[in-house]
Amino acid sequence: MKTLDDIRPAITSLESIPAVPAIVQPLAAMLQLPVERVNVDQVVELVSCDSSIAAQCLRMANSPLFGRRNVETVRSAIVTLGLKRVQSLLLGCCLNRIVPVNKWASSATHFWRHSLGCALVSRKLATLIGYAEPEKAYLAGLLHDLGVLVNTLACAEEYARCFEEARAQRVSLEAAERRLLGFTHCESGSILAEHWKFPNDVVAAIAFHHHVANAMCANALVDLVHLSDLLCRLRDLGYGFYEAIGVDLARDQAWLNLLKHCPQLATVDLARLTLDIDGAMDEIVAVVDAVFRPESSG
Ligand SMILES: [Fe+2]
Ligand SMILES: [Fe+2]
Repeated sequence: MKTLDDIRPAITSLESIPAVPAIVQPLAAMLQLPVERVNVDQVVELVSCDSSIAAQCLRMANSPLFGRRNVETVRSAIVTLGLKRVQSLLLGCCLNRIVPVNKWASSATHFWRHSLGCALVSRKLATLIGYAEPEKAYLAGLLHDLGVLVNTLACAEEYARCFEEARAQRVSLEAAERRLLGFTHCESGSILAEHWKFPNDVVAAIAFHHHVANAMCANALVDLVHLSDLLCRLRDLGYGFYEAIGVDLARDQAWLNLLKHCPQLATVDLARLTLDIDGAMDEIVAVVDAVFRPESSG
């Protein structure tokens, strides 16, 4: 069994893997800036220097999920989507490339459907509670399971066994990781996120989205991502296998945390929210198939 310390060097040297596009680091650095300090020309330049990423950006801007307009240039795609969303989208596209198609321990499609679903639900919940940075909630939702990519790259064979065990035993992926690897995607993902200097609250969401009570301090982003992750897993946007998770969202710690700061949340109909996820399912599937499809097939 490898320990987290065994794989730590592999995690922190991930950017030296040739498949990691050169734009990941500058993008991650820009993500920390307030939007008014981000230089649009620089983003256009970054996106344009990689034709496949530029194409993905255009596909996203033209998808029904984001407005379906006649977007033909990288610059207008960036304006249509908004700078922050473009940055998260690009990061997702870049990360999609770092796992070779034949290396996935599970399904890349399910992984990205879950991640994009979580991004959309996080942003929706963020708007509902009046969270100041809904696009940051989108980013945190998209990247919350970054550690799944890390584990796939760092210990592919053992990780495939984790998925098998989770599927066979009907337990969460996290429980299987804890048993077979000794650490979880939350830990490995937060090491990479910290190394890439992602914003602190995004790192916290990656680290604590399965155990909000372990977060060092109150953090609405962790609560938002935790709930979105659960909602997606309950509504067929999990990892592609059945998990026996009995969840009473109204008693969930993250929900109670958010309620404390946002009493009007009590009026939100949770059942309705899950129906909204079902309603968005076709579009999520279409966007993932168009934007995050494995590199080799597209
Ligand atoms: Fe997770
Ligand atoms: Fe997740």
